[in-house]
Amino acid sequence: MAETKKSLLTEISTPVLDSNDRVTIVGGGQVGMACAFTILTQGISSDVVLIDVDEKKMQGELLDLQHGSLFLRNPRIDAGKDYAKSANSKICIITAGARQREGESRLNLVQRNTDIFKTIIPQLVKYSPDTIFLVVSNPCDVLTYVTWKISGFPKNRVIGSGTNLDSSRFRFLLSQKLGVAPSSCHGYIIGEHGDSSVAVWSGVNVAGVCLRELNPEAGTAKDEEKWKEIHKQVIDGAYEVIKLKGYTSWAVGLSVGSIVRSILRNSSELHAISVNVKGIHGIKEEVFLSLPAILGKNGLTKIVKQKLEEVELQKLRECAKMINEVQSGLVI
Ligand code: NAI
Ligand code: 2OP
Repeated sequence: MAETKKSLLTEISTPVLDSNDRVTIVGGGQVGMACAFTILTQGISSDVVLIDVDEKKMQGELLDLQHGSLFLRNPRIDAGKDYAKSANSKICIITAGARQREGESRLNLVQRNTDIFKTIIPQLVKYSPDTIFLVVSNPCDVLTYVTWKISGFPKNRVIGSGTNLDSSRFRFLLSQKLGVAPSSCHGYIIGEHGDSSVAVWSGVNVAGVCLRELNPEAGTAKDEEKWKEIHKQVIDGAYEVIKLKGYTSWAVGLSVGSIVRSILRNSSELHAISVNVKGIHGIKEEVFLSLPAILGKNGLTKIVKQKLEEVELQKLRECAKMINEVQSGLVI
């Protein structure tokens, strides 16, 4: 210890360096930084590592965040391109890779981002063999499958952020139409995080009162109140934001933060997240799609068996077939 420090402090025991809640974020772009900002400002983890190929940018982001440590409950933050920094992460969030240009579908990014994942996943596995993968990069569901394949991890430790964000958009839009807060409007978007997502209209409710009990046609083409429009707005929402500001970031960062919190706190909270759905709801394909699922310290613990209507089941199964087709053309 240097002299001044020695005069100030009497060491009683050696400080423990591992805070046991390290979260690594690979990809320090708009989405990665929004995730980091949520996790740090909400005190979800006290130990955040950012990894990106752009080392200079990471150094800048690191300093900028560290300068705010006083307001962040004194976390440990590190950043760079060396995966050794990520060692012993409890959760590895992947936000690296290409994003959609205006009007482009998420699925267009598939092989480009798969190739990037081939370089990232083995490095993370090497330094954190017990970690939980949380995939955010698009197409989220296919890349969650790619991560599962490359890592060889069990199903409980590979999830995608999936339709947690779409469900949040859905509940916000329901809230606008009903004048009830989003947290009090209950409903799920399941299936693909993308254009073929499925709105579970049969379960939409406020305080246990189902919309369908009041309006049996809610969410169908016959409905005069046009509730179905809300699902269209959910699908179009990302395209609209991308058109206006070039990318989406804050909502996904908040959505990812909520998932990370549920895992680290072992809270058994439920989220619509991308999970391996083979054998559920009659799906035969080995694909990852979003269903309401429960999260704990070891990742995915339970999937909720929603009572879906026939039309919802059909849409979900079609979605699985489409994703499986995309996967079959991939070089992993
Ligand atoms: P961005 O371009 O701002 O950031 C991407 C970052 O990835 C860049 O900093 C880049 O240097 C880094 N990167 C590229 N190759 C890398 C590699 N091999 N290793 C480490 N880092 C690498 O893009 P943005 O807006 O942050 O989007 C990232 C991804 O997240 C896109 O695929 C986008 O579509 C997806 N996304 C997913 C959402 C979801 O709900 N699942 C929501 C919004 C975006
Ligand atoms: C989003 O839904 C583009 O997947 C991204 O915001």
